[in-house]
Amino acid sequence: MDYQLRKAEPRDVSDILRLVKELAKYEEMESHVKLTEKELLEDGFGATPFYHCIVAEIPGENCSSGSSRPAVVGFAMYYFTYDPWVGKQLYLEDFYVMKPYRGLGIGSDILRHLSDLAIQMRCTGMMFIVAENNEPSIQFYKRRGAEDLSQEEGWRLFKFSKSSLAKMATPAEE
Ligand code: ACO
Repeated sequence: MDYQLRKAEPRDVSDILRLVKELAKYEEMESHVKLTEKELLEDGFGATPFYHCIVAEIPGENCSSGSSRPAVVGFAMYYFTYDPWVGKQLYLEDFYVMKPYRGLGIGSDILRHLSDLAIQMRCTGMMFIVAENNEPSIQFYKRRGAEDLSQEEGWRLFKFSKSSLAKMATPAEE
């Protein structure tokens, strides 16, 4: 199937949010998606982008909104992080291809594109987390050489929620 990968543009935010929600639904976490198109637009396309996206689109298949734009059927959201032991890293946050378009090589092509970018940027690796029950995806990454750090190095994933942050933060002045 003919498809093309390109850098996401501001006009893609509705497709990005749709795919973010589809991936969250696949992971049975859809209710956790609180983000809006407005936030995606401000956060990804302002003066300091907090994320970047690659989208895969199919020329000739129109997008779901009914416009004549090509359908966006997959995406990867990523950003750069820094590891004080080894330096720059590409962090793959979200990676998704719609079910009817899986198995056609789009996902591998997105990873090729991100690997090229990571190498150009002199990153020392690509990090990501995968839900423990997402076995097809774990195997997909392992077949490409990914190491499972939670198993091999014993790292545990932590988070401070907004309310925990508020407890630690400087109290607001009365
Ligand atoms: N569906 C899925 N995989 C198939 C299918 C099919 N119908 N048919 C064949 N496959 C095999 C392919 O042969 C290929 O095998 P390989 O690993 O030996 O090469 C592999 O599955 C798929 O390879 P691609 O076609 O290159 O990748 P695809 O376009 O299917 O995208 C992806 C891969 C993104 C993981 C996709 O399967 C997907 O969206 N899965 C559901 C969501 C998901 O788990 N995303 C990753 C979460 S982790 C994170 O976001 C960091």
